[in-house]
Amino acid sequence: MTIRLGDIAPNFTAKTTEGEIDFHQYLGDSWGILFSHPADYTPVCTTELGKTAQLKDEFAKRNVKVLAVSVDPLDKHEGWVKDINETQHTTVTFPIIADVDRNVATLYDMIHPNASETFTVRSLFVIGPDKKVKLSITYPASTGRNFVEVLRVIDSLQLTAKYSVATPADWKHGEDVIVVPAVSTADAEKKFPKGLKIVKPYLRYTPQPDLQ
Ligand code: BEZ
Repeated sequence: MTIRLGDIAPNFTAKTTEGEIDFHQYLGDSWGILFSHPADYTPVCTTELGKTAQLKDEFAKRNVKVLAVSVDPLDKHEGWVKDINETQHTTVTFPIIADVDRNVATLYDMIHPNASETFTVRSLFVIGPDKKVKLSITYPASTGRNFVEVLRVIDSLQLTAKYSVATPADWKHGEDVIVVPAVSTADAEKKFPKGLKIVKPYLRYTPQPDLQ
């Protein structure tokens, strides 16, 4: 099934390292990340899950719940988590789905047969509190994802959700944001009391609104 931005993230129940999970119940009112890795006991995946565990406080700060998935069984996940904790100097506390029947992989189109018939590629979905898909990225097995970039996108998505702003190329937390075209300059002047920098009528910046 192809999943597009704005679609409701398909719900499922699955066995995980933290017990049986109903995905939508697990997310509750939080934001969520569902991400697949090709296989347990592989080097790039070990670093990815380790990095995600290391960023636990950053995800918590943004009210984001994390859920990993691969088609390996639960006992394999449990043994591998010990290795991740040891080698990446962290503690994995988020659940990892044992998607042995490929139910989740199929629902989220995580197996790309021309890349691998058997393993999931590196898919990642960010899901909003409304259960809609806000970001979808796909990386090949050989390239580990940049989880700091994922946090950056979540910062942007959360600003957009709260303040009707967008973020420019290479934006980082603390930098000026863009007033979306749907907001008139007259309204923007009221909405963004820190002021506007109008470069062109369609290119208007304001300081990041949630900062003092
Ligand atoms: C890895 O995680 O290192 C990996 C997994 C599958 C294919 C290539 C690399």
